[in-house]
Amino acid sequence: MKKVELKIIFEEYDSVDELKEKDRQLLETATEAYEKAYAPYSQYNVGAALLLNNGEMISGNNQENVAYPSGLCAERVALFYAFSKYPDAVIDTIAVAAKADNFIITEPVAPCGSCRQVMSEYETKQKSPMRIILKAEQGKILIFDKVEDILPLIFHAEELKK
Ligand code: THU
Repeated sequence: MKKVELKIIFEEYDSVDELKEKDRQLLETATEAYEKAYAPYSQYNVGAALLLNNGEMISGNNQENVAYPSGLCAERVALFYAFSKYPDAVIDTIAVAAKADNFIITEPVAPCGSCRQVMSEYETKQKSPMRIILKAEQGKILIFDKVEDILPLIFHAEELKK
């Protein structure tokens, strides 16, 4: 037996003012998206914005349902819409931001496991890295270079063929 260490490197920013213009715009789009979220049950509003390699931005937000599992996270709303509209889309960056109705979120929003798996599928499909920007209402902004950084030991399609 040996113990193996996994290491990830990501960028941490104190303010949106430190970001590149395109990243700032994408976060702004994610912020506009969470303002329109349908989250009456959790009152936790999430917005996701995608920057496609053709320069277009696509956004989505969480859509909840009284039958809780029927709802969907912001990331998957945006990703599924993007790939339904542009099956050959290449996503350069996904930005995710959140705001709660009843408290201030100070930790960058952490995409759930299912959203990470879906991001990974599209990253593999497009054969190029999808950057990830995570932000809360306040506090630090995190930027990851690729999906594998937030979902190590990933289940790839190749696993089905072994
Ligand atoms: N949610 C998202 O939309 N994305 C995330 O990254 C985390 C969680 C949503 C799902 C649900 O509508 C609410 O936030 C509370 O979990």
